[in-house]
Amino acid sequence: MSDAPNPPTDTHQAKTLPRVIAIANQKGGVGKTTTTINTGAALADMGLRTLIVDLDPQGNASSGLGIDTRSLEHSMYHVLLHGVSMEDCVEPTDVRNLFVAPASLDLAGAEIELVSTFNRELQLRNAIHSVIDDYDYVLIDCPPSLGLLSVNGLAAADEVLLPIQCEYFALEGVGQLITNVGRIRTSGLNPTLEISTIACVMYDSRTKLSEEVVTDIRDHFGDKVLRTVVPRNVRLSEAPRHGQPITLYDPSSRGAIAYRDIAQEVHDATKH
Ligand SMILES: Nc1ncnc2c1ncn2[C@@H]1O[C@H](COP(=O)(O)OP(=O)(O)O)[C@@H](O)[C@H]1O
Ligand SMILES: [Mg+2]
Repeated sequence: MSDAPNPPTDTHQAKTLPRVIAIANQKGGVGKTTTTINTGAALADMGLRTLIVDLDPQGNASSGLGIDTRSLEHSMYHVLLHGVSMEDCVEPTDVRNLFVAPASLDLAGAEIELVSTFNRELQLRNAIHSVIDDYDYVLIDCPPSLGLLSVNGLAAADEVLLPIQCEYFALEGVGQLITNVGRIRTSGLNPTLEISTIACVMYDSRTKLSEEVVTDIRDHFGDKVLRTVVPRNVRLSEAPRHGQPITLYDPSSRGAIAYRDIAQEVHDATKH
């Protein structure tokens, strides 16, 4: 790595709209999708046109926004592998200003099918580029594994938002992600990619452990860590079953308040 042409390690690049943010963590079940949906919905409520790109074959971001992933004509699978335009894939949601480019199960096969595709790592970047003028924010919900789908997500993003669960082993997936972001940078795929933002999520105020984990994360990552900590809140886990972000499902819940604050903090980092 020492012969790399000084990859930028500075974490304070100016952020201007549109911003393309990958929500990533190499571990599953840590709150990536919950953070993507609800931060996206809160940004949209602020009047900012936001596109959520669902890159996880599970399609949780899509179904959590009310999309029936089994009845889609076009999904991200067709965009990445069959030349369907992003514009033809994007669906509106019940939230004004919030749109989703949904995933379907066949996206699981994309990991393999992409291998033999020309420019296989840059399919998503090119697809987003074709619609970027329509949006203020593009949030990419990455799958947990580091296959070609995640590589596409990281190659397409300007920055990474890393949600960390306030629990034991929280830092497990994190080291891996940092390594992978470094690889994407030095490979030349995306020389300015940075982990810009860390969100502490699933905080359990009843345990001392959660508090200790947040302290550790702040010690380690400093001012990349958002001030807002997202609590464990059952309403956040119920909302996807109703196909709604928390801001619609229960706007006064603690989860909704937290994600509105997260969205505000994220947007405050944008140069106005
Ligand atoms: N703050 C929270 N409070 C309660 N449940 C949460 C919270 N964040 C996420 N969950 C739930 O935890 C599970 C995993 O979250 P999810 O966002 O799907 O993680 P990932 O996308 O990283 O796999 C889901 O069932 C989700 O509803
Ligand atoms: Mg997910």
